[in-house]
Amino acid sequence: PRNIIIDTDPGQDDAVAILLALASPDEIEVLGITAVAGNVPLPLTAKNARIVCELAGRTDVPVFAGCEAPIARKLVTAEHVHGRTGLDGPDLPDPTMSLQDTHAVDFIIDTLRAQPPGTVTLCPLGPLTNIATAFTRAPDIVSRVQEIVLMGGAYFEVGNITPAAEFNIYVDPEAADIVFGSGAPLVVMPLDVTHKALVTKARNDAFRALGTPVGIAVAQMTDFFERFDKEKYGSEGAPLHDPCVTAYLLRPDLFSGRHINVEIETTSDLTLGMTVADWWRVTDRAPNALFIGQLDAQGFFDLLTERLARL
Ligand code: BDR
Ligand code: CA
Repeated sequence: PRNIIIDTDPGQDDAVAILLALASPDEIEVLGITAVAGNVPLPLTAKNARIVCELAGRTDVPVFAGCEAPIARKLVTAEHVHGRTGLDGPDLPDPTMSLQDTHAVDFIIDTLRAQPPGTVTLCPLGPLTNIATAFTRAPDIVSRVQEIVLMGGAYFEVGNITPAAEFNIYVDPEAADIVFGSGAPLVVMPLDVTHKALVTKARNDAFRALGTPVGIAVAQMTDFFERFDKEKYGSEGAPLHDPCVTAYLLRPDLFSGRHINVEIETTSDLTLGMTVADWWRVTDRAPNALFIGQLDAQGFFDLLTERLARL
């Protein structure tokens, strides 16, 4: 299996991304889950990550708390999307498993140094604060990363937190700039693709029909999470942003995109956190990311439902 670290701010869609990884032990070995402040403050994301592990019956997966604020800015949260707890919808018990003592940034650094080079993939599902802090503190780990597969950014779909920016990049644009400029191989799941991963009613019924605690909880998370996008965009259902990352690890053939240059806006107030994606290759800036645009949505939901059924 492929060794990964999931860096996350759960979040209902983060939760589904984690469940998909934990449901796929033949292909994915989750070395650890690192929590970051984002959708809700750090104490809640660190708690929610453990709630999700317990839901999956995987109390053996170590969970670490990381950075509680972006590198250079005040934290912006998204309770308007995810609810007060960040994981509103199902009524899940408080976790009994404890957080690890090690800071998430130290875990990321230590793991990349301890494992053979090119064998650890980072999967960021929230603001890039933990990853960028690790890269800044320990530049030697960058070349040891196999790949970074992240959810963030937008191009044709522009923004969901400002007219120009996607939430994860907007919250910590300085961190995103460090990661996008790091030279590590990057695969990016922007809103352009995640807005194609929509939980229609039939798809949510399929989760619920699993009849398991996981299937029912995922359906209840979706029931809550879909409100925002339905009301705001007239969307057909909730976009499963973050599960695109873990689905890509399992079935890259479901996705397609272009290897292009992507730069992060860090100075303009108007377009702060914009992912300036050279989709048409109109500059000579070197490509630094595989920027995904297309998804086989039904293939994605078939995979997800089949895997969730295993938990
Ligand atoms: C991203 O922001 C968060 O609200 C979601 O969990 C996802 O990671 C989508 O813009
Ligand atoms: Ca997230």
